[in-house]
Amino acid sequence: MIFDPKEINILIIDDTPAALKALSQMLAEAGYQVRPANNGEMALRAASITLPDIILLDILMPGMDGFEVCKRLKSDVRTQDIPIIFISALSEIKDKVAAFKAGGVDYITKPFQIEEVLARVETHLTIRSYRLHLEKLVQMRTRELNEINRNLEKRVKEEVEENRRKDQLVFEQSRRTTMSELLMNIAHHWRQPLNAVGVISQEIKDAYEYGELTEEHLNRSVNTIMVQLTELSDIINTFRDIYYADKKRENFSISEALNKSVSIVMDYINRNNFTLNVDVLEDNIIKGNLNDFCQAIIKILINAIEIFIERRVKNGRIVISVKDISRRKRAIVTISDNGGGIEQELMEKVFDPYFTTKQKSVGTGLGLYLAKKIIENEMGGRLDVKNINEGAQFIIEI
Ligand SMILES: Nc1ncnc2c1ncn2[C@@H]1O[C@H](COP(=O)(O)OP(=O)(O)OP(=O)(O)O)[C@@H](O)[C@H]1O
Ligand SMILES: [Mg+2]
Repeated sequence: MIFDPKEINILIIDDTPAALKALSQMLAEAGYQVRPANNGEMALRAASITLPDIILLDILMPGMDGFEVCKRLKSDVRTQDIPIIFISALSEIKDKVAAFKAGGVDYITKPFQIEEVLARVETHLTIRSYRLHLEKLVQMRTRELNEINRNLEKRVKEEVEENRRKDQLVFEQSRRTTMSELLMNIAHHWRQPLNAVGVISQEIKDAYEYGELTEEHLNRSVNTIMVQLTELSDIINTFRDIYYADKKRENFSISEALNKSVSIVMDYINRNNFTLNVDVLEDNIIKGNLNDFCQAIIKILINAIEIFIERRVKNGRIVISVKDISRRKRAIVTISDNGGGIEQELMEKVFDPYFTTKQKSVGTGLGLYLAKKIIENEMGGRLDVKNINEGAQFIIEI
C-alpha cells in the first residue's frame, strides 16, 4: 500500500442505516477515517468542510439522489477530482453507464462483499496517490523549468550586453590608435613644408646679413612662406576631416573616397619609392559616412605599405581597382599588393581584434577589425581577403 489508511478520509453516503453502518464499520476496522452521511445535502456540507479523499455514494435516496450529489461535487473545482464509487442496488447496465457518465470511477452492486469494497477502495486510492504524486512532480518540474528559463533568458541578455560592451570598447580603442597614426602622418606630411619654411627664413637672414635683402626678395619669400603655411593648414584640415568625422551619412562616389584616402598615404608611398595606382573602371555612388569609409581604405593601404617595409619589398606596388557589378547594384573595390600575402592559416584571423604579426609597439591588430566594422556593420557591405599571385588582395563589396 503506498498510502497510510489513517490519513485517508472516506465519506460514505447512504440513506439505508444498515448499509451505512456496515460500510462504516468495515472501513473503520481497516484503519480508515470514516464519515457517514445519510442524505445528499448533509454529504455536500461535510465534503465542503473537510475534503474527503474518496467517496462511496448510494444512488437511490429520497430528496437529492446520488447522481445529483455527484454532479454537484464535479461542478466544484475543490471537489471535482475526488474519486467517487457508486454503491447501488440498481444493477442494470444503463444504471452503471449513467453512473460512469456522471463522473463515478467505479460501481459496486448491492448486496456488496466486504472484500470487494475494500479492494476497490484501495485500488482507487492507489491510483489517486499516483496521480497526486505525478501532478506534484509535474508541478515541481514546471517550476524548475520556469526557473531555468528565467535564468537562461537573464544570462543570454547579460552575455549579449557584455559582448556589445566589449565590442564597443574595442571599437573605441581602435579609433584611439587611429590618433597616434594621425599624429605620425601629420608629422610626415609636415616635414617637407616645414623644411621649406626653415630654408626660406635662413635665406632671408643670410640676405640681410650680406646686405642683399631687397623688397622684391622679401615679398617673394613671404609669399612662398604663405603658400607653405596654407599647405600646412590644409594638411591639418584634411586629417581632421577624416579622423574627427561626424557621423552623418551621405551619398558619395567611390572615386572621391579613394582619392581622399590616397592623398593621405601618398606621401608615405613616395618616400619609400613604392607605387600606387587607382584604376576606376566604373564609378559608383554609395551611401554612408565618407570619412569612416576613407579610414577603412587607409587602414588597408597602410597595412600593405608596412608589409613592404617589413619584408623589404623593393618595388612595392598597390593597385586599387573599382568595378561595378550593376546586376547586383554593388561595386567591387579591390586593393591588391605584391607584399607576399598572408599565410593561409592566419587568413581567418586577420580581421580579429588584436590580431597582429607586428611588434606590440608597431601594431595593435585593430586596423582590419575597424575596417571590417565600418564596411560591414555601418555600411552593410562586405570585406574579405585572399592571396593573389604576389601578395594579398582585399575585396570590398559595397
Ligand atoms: N596586405 C597585407 N599583406 C600581408 N599581411 C597583411 C596585410 N594586411 C594585413 N596583414 C596581416 O594582418 C594582420 C592584422 O592587420 P591589422 O591591420 O588588423 O593589424 P596591424 O596592422 O597588425 O596593427 P594596426 O593596424 O592596429 O597598427 C597584420 O599584422 C598582418 O600580419
Ligand atoms: Mg594595420
